[in-house]
Amino acid sequence: MAEPFSIPGTTAVVTGAAGGIGLALARRLLREGAARVVITDLDSDRIAAAAGELGERAHGMAFDAADEAAVADAVSRIEREYGAIDLWCSNAGVATGDGLGDDASWELSWRVHVMAHVYAARALVPRMAERGTGHILVTASAAGLLTQLDSAPYSATKHSAVALAEWLAIRHADEGVSVSCLCPQGVDTDMTAGDGGTSATRLGGAYIAPEDVAESVVTALHAGRFLVLPHPEAADYERRRATDRDRWIEGMRRAWAAIRPRAAGAD
Ligand SMILES: NC(=O)c1ccc[n+]([C@@H]2O[C@H](COP(=O)([O-])OP(=O)(O)OC[C@H]3O[C@@H](n4cnc5c(N)ncnc54)[C@H](O)[C@@H]3O)[C@@H](O)[C@H]2O)c1
Repeated sequence: MAEPFSIPGTTAVVTGAAGGIGLALARRLLREGAARVVITDLDSDRIAAAAGELGERAHGMAFDAADEAAVADAVSRIEREYGAIDLWCSNAGVATGDGLGDDASWELSWRVHVMAHVYAARALVPRMAERGTGHILVTASAAGLLTQLDSAPYSATKHSAVALAEWLAIRHADEGVSVSCLCPQGVDTDMTAGDGGTSATRLGGAYIAPEDVAESVVTALHAGRFLVLPHPEAADYERRRATDRDRWIEGMRRAWAAIRPRAAGAD
């Protein structure tokens, strides 16, 4: 277990926070006593509206989390204006690429689901290590532990996000930088609103509210736990997958065969 992370009095940043899980997380961090939360997203109007809704301890900032120069600049600006960043929630994500996906969806998924975390770590880890404290939360997905049947680019890049988060957690713990990895299954947000009830994820299990995800994050931060599993059953699925991979793939093939007639745009 990593050291527990104490939220009161901290400065936190959440990317992809104009709505959904990011906004719920920002709201929850403020409720837990964070001194300030900087919420960030691509669209300046959306992020300003969300920050206004959260109140005076929230600040909005628009930048592309998958643009290294923009991330480095944002980190410098935030630390200059608000002080050291204690917690960075690398949460931006995209749902793109039905089935095997085209090159554009692979490239976008790779940039947002992997390189955004790399850029955040490049900018933040040296600063946090120098201070001997700091936490990075990577929002991956249960798709990164198991298999998201609708989209290969989503599933494969979320697996990379989990691997990267593990690598960071191992390599930087001794410097005081802790890392956790958020892996929900279905969550009711804008990302999943267009499913129309036909996605394999929606057909495969219960959807929860973004507020429940935020609750799990806070609990895991307090416990110093790496994996944040808002759907506890994901732990059992992951265990089964690791124990017998062939049996897991066979079970997933059967699940896919059952839902395939109803799943839209699968291949
Ligand atoms: N909704 C789910 O079922 C679910 C399940 C597991 C994991 N996740 C992950 O949770 C995270 C949040 O997703 P959500 O469900 O709240 O969806 P959402 O669409 O409400 O939020 C994602 C946000 O990320 C922003 N974003 C996308 N690319 C960006 C970029 N390059 N720079 C900055 N912001 C960018 C979007 O504008 C959007 O506001 C994502 O990483 C997603 O993959 C979601």
